Amino acid sequence: MNLEPKTEIFETETPDQTHQLGIQIASKLSPGYCVSMSGGLGAGKTALTRGIAEGLGADSRLVSSPTYVLVNEYPLPDSELFIFHLDLFRMNEPTTELQDIGLDEMRNEGIVITEWADMASNMLVPPCIKIAIDITGMVSRKFTLQFID
Ligand SMILES: Nc1ncnc2c1ncn2[C@@H]1O[C@H](COP(=O)(O)OP(=O)(O)OP(=O)(O)O)[C@@H](O)[C@H]1O
Ligand SMILES: [Mg+2]
Repeated sequence: MNLEPKTEIFETETPDQTHQLGIQIASKLSPGYCVSMSGGLGAGKTALTRGIAEGLGADSRLVSSPTYVLVNEYPLPDSELFIFHLDLFRMNEPTTELQDIGLDEMRNEGIVITEWADMASNMLVPPCIKIAIDITGMVSRKFTLQFID
């Protein structure tokens, strides 16, 4: 049992470095994983998701905050798998709504990436990478990754 999740910290100085960090994070993911991000408006959650999507081989141009739908789906190449991109910001009862839209099924069918994940406790079920993003300057961001497995 892993009582102390492994923590890694990264700092980026440009949006492109955040994209590259997303590509690196993708190499640590496999089907069933969730990536649970927190950090305020404009922190870079969607920018990081775009990098992860590219790293996994999806079309990163499809990635946008799922603001008006509950979940965006991006197909992964040469498989039946998807990235499921969620945003809990506008959910009133995220924990219940996540069950209703089929979080468990989504985890069986690919990788679940969530913005504003700290609004629901069920976003930290392993295997999971929890990412807290801090805005440290106009174009700089700090990413604290916790590997929960
Ligand atoms: N180092 C950086 N990494 C990522 N984005 C940065 C960085 N510096 C500046 N930015 C800018 O911050 C913004 C990040 O926007 P993004 O949509 O990714 O944020 P978000 O966390 O998804 O916000 P929201 O909660 O509104 O969905 C972009 O406008 C981007 O250009
Ligand atoms: Mg966003």
